[in-house]
Amino acid sequence: MTKVDTTPIAGQKPGTSGLRKKTPVFMGRHYLENFVQSLFDVVGAGGKTFVLGGDGRYFNDRAAQVILRMAAANGAARVIVGQGAILSTPAASHLIRLNKTDGGIIMSASHNPGGPEEDFGVKFNMPNGGPAPEAVTEAMYRRTTEITAYHILEAQDVDLGRIGRQRLGDMAVDVVDPVAEYAALMETLFDFPAIAAMFGAGFRMRMDAMCAVTGPYATEILENRLGAAPGTVINGTPLPDFGGMHPDPNPTWARALMDEMFGPDAPDFGAASDGDGDRNMVVGRGIYVSPSDSLAVLAANAHLAPGYRAGLKGVARSMPTSAAADRVADALKIGKYETPTGWKFFGNLLDAGRATICGEESFGTGSDHVREKDGLWAILLWLNILAVRKQPVADILGEHWATYGRNYYSRHDFEAVATDRADAMMAALRASLAGLPGRTVEGMTVSAADDFAYTDPVDGSVSQKQGVRVLFADGSRIVYRLSGTGTEGATLRVYLERYAAGPDGLHLDAQEALAPVIRAAHTLADIGAHTGRSDPDVIT
Ligand code: G1P
Ligand code: ZN
Repeated sequence: MTKVDTTPIAGQKPGTSGLRKKTPVFMGRHYLENFVQSLFDVVGAGGKTFVLGGDGRYFNDRAAQVILRMAAANGAARVIVGQGAILSTPAASHLIRLNKTDGGIIMSASHNPGGPEEDFGVKFNMPNGGPAPEAVTEAMYRRTTEITAYHILEAQDVDLGRIGRQRLGDMAVDVVDPVAEYAALMETLFDFPAIAAMFGAGFRMRMDAMCAVTGPYATEILENRLGAAPGTVINGTPLPDFGGMHPDPNPTWARALMDEMFGPDAPDFGAASDGDGDRNMVVGRGIYVSPSDSLAVLAANAHLAPGYRAGLKGVARSMPTSAAADRVADALKIGKYETPTGWKFFGNLLDAGRATICGEESFGTGSDHVREKDGLWAILLWLNILAVRKQPVADILGEHWATYGRNYYSRHDFEAVATDRADAMMAALRASLAGLPGRTVEGMTVSAADDFAYTDPVDGSVSQKQGVRVLFADGSRIVYRLSGTGTEGATLRVYLERYAAGPDGLHLDAQEALAPVIRAAHTLADIGAHTGRSDPDVIT
């Protein structure tokens, strides 16, 4: 074992999804090592078993070797690694739980682009399979500012291409097929014969894996096990730079899929997933399904899949996600929960058996089968529902809106805004909150305005300042918050919602339906004056 002296590197502060930085920063002297040692110092490594894998982005393979050598030097007993250092985030979560391990290290910057000049990241998941809570990531951060040395074994690389057990010092390294256990889990949740019969009858699908980690999972499950036509999965090989794609499944970045689904020969169903496989976008022929609507439809129909036949215990959504899922929960007379942004806030609800299905407007949906959002899971649940209901996506959505009303929804992102300007805008907005109720903008009267705070119903922990909410008397809503995952300046997210009870007005274009809410959002926060931007960079 070698002990390497280093100077502490300040500022390694993990956000909602671990530590994310530009790849050259991560590759800098001692940078990865400093963070990994801090992580082991906080969670303890001696005698423990961890899972390790990543989304295959640039530096994934070399970082895996460093982490393995450090795990061995810190006394870990065993590390379970996906072959080629590959594991999707949901598959890693599953392996952590299945093997009753002490947690896992996932190398990913999620949907951020990968490559020598793009992003890299490392996150730690707890023994329950879910992202480390704030107390743990804060402790890691503090540790990164104090440590003076890290432990690393001097050894050759482990052959991560070879499945089976190898040794690294005293530590066992078990290289496993990244897909097998995950695929087996999916077979227990969904009616594979029914979905296979649908494909057999000519149902056509396009799955865009965006050159990221979901490719091997989707190819095995959709094409090999469910019999979807060969070529259903496109961009199915994970590449270090994601083939230059921005693997964020939304209408902007999955443009090719959108064009195909709205084109003359559109398949029945389209889907895409992100860098590490936890996000999903679903599209019907000629119709886009917003993530908030997708959550609501999945909650309303989950009982059609074998894994959820007994019904749901509750539905949880992040605060900025539309209230569409709440309407389903009310109708089903089950619990509904509104949490801060970030999957980790669902962990306690899932562990305590209060919620079965969770979702975020940011293309994240999942259930209590793992403790992360799960892109392919959501896609398979949609396929199960389509196989049972035998209707096009457009009809399923139309019937859903007719039953529950429609929550028009959109998110506008203003990216790479100067941090001080974005902070100043949020500060001014917060200072104005008390005076907002009663004020009329764009013909809508503000009924309440606050900065969202959340008390976890399970452990009583409180999270403050989770986003500014402006609620209107007609049920419309605007939410403003700054991203916690961006790596360049600040990203301002503005979330817009308007409810239409129907039956009239259910089939408008979302941006048109939301036009007054969008104008009000600009007026109330003075976005133009503060940020110098009049139009968002990304609309979802
Ligand atoms: C974004 C999403 C959030 C999600 C997170 C991790 O965080 O908005 O819902 O949980 O990525 O995937 P943000 O950049 O907004 O802080
Ligand atoms: Zn992701």
